[in-house]
Amino acid sequence: MERRKPAYIWRRIGLLLLALCCATLFVSASNPNTPEGFLIFAHRGASGYAPENTMAAFEEAEKLGSDFIEFDVQLSKDEELVVIHDDTVDRTTEHSGSVDEYTLNELEGMKAGSEASADDADEKILSFHDVMDRFAGKIGMLIEIKDSKLFPGIEEKVADVVRRYELRLNHTEFDGKGRIKGMGKVKNSAGIIIQSYDFDSTRRIHDLLPDIPVAALIHEDQHPLSNETLDELTSYAAYINYTHELLDEKIVQAIHDRNRKVIAWTIQNDGDMERMKKLGVDGVITDYPG
Ligand code: G3P
Ligand code: CA
Repeated sequence: MERRKPAYIWRRIGLLLLALCCATLFVSASNPNTPEGFLIFAHRGASGYAPENTMAAFEEAEKLGSDFIEFDVQLSKDEELVVIHDDTVDRTTEHSGSVDEYTLNELEGMKAGSEASADDADEKILSFHDVMDRFAGKIGMLIEIKDSKLFPGIEEKVADVVRRYELRLNHTEFDGKGRIKGMGKVKNSAGIIIQSYDFDSTRRIHDLLPDIPVAALIHEDQHPLSNETLDELTSYAAYINYTHELLDEKIVQAIHDRNRKVIAWTIQNDGDMERMKKLGVDGVITDYPG
């Protein structure tokens, strides 16, 4: 009896290892490799892991190897560029009221970590300068102009700041494969894309900054895009950033036929991620990069 015991244990270990190998093979087969050049955009930073649009979320995105951080810009009462998603401060801070009722100084004093863990409790609202200063040339930036109708002239202000940082970007060393040396996988040479739902705004940005790629954001109200609208958008926009629920093969093909990239937003689970890869999109915007 005692002699048979080790053999029995080894048999069990063998079976366990076999089961593990099969599981690994199954997982690999059901998760085909990420396509070459597939871009990961961290939505409002890695906002699934840290408070949105804060330094903690952007640093987490960088740590997780995201290609780009995505963030939203608006104007404060004193017409400074500030990084916040909603047009009020109610949801993300302990204060209330419209963003444009507060000066930049007042906004910068607001804690932006109210919904997150104690670790992130001291996160603050950031200025656009803060984010550019910390990340320009280090990780890609997808800058969303939030509401151009509410903030006339916001495009000029964004363009002015981007131009200032372009100098730094032009001095950044690239490795010839679209990557910033030693800094991961930024895929466009400037590492900046500017997006908006407002097509007048994307057009204006393109006119102001013809070398910076522009993305037209498409949500359900703009869907389906007519061929005419798609032709117009793709005449200057390098990216069409489409809400993932509405994307299908035909739309992806129509964008690729026009030699433009399609990025899907906002992907929050593996199932949607796999569907997007199968559709052949060029990247995804997600709260959970990495
Ligand atoms: O980048 C796409 C996504 O950010 C657009 O939606 O509302 O999160 O700014 P929203
Ligand atoms: Ca956004």
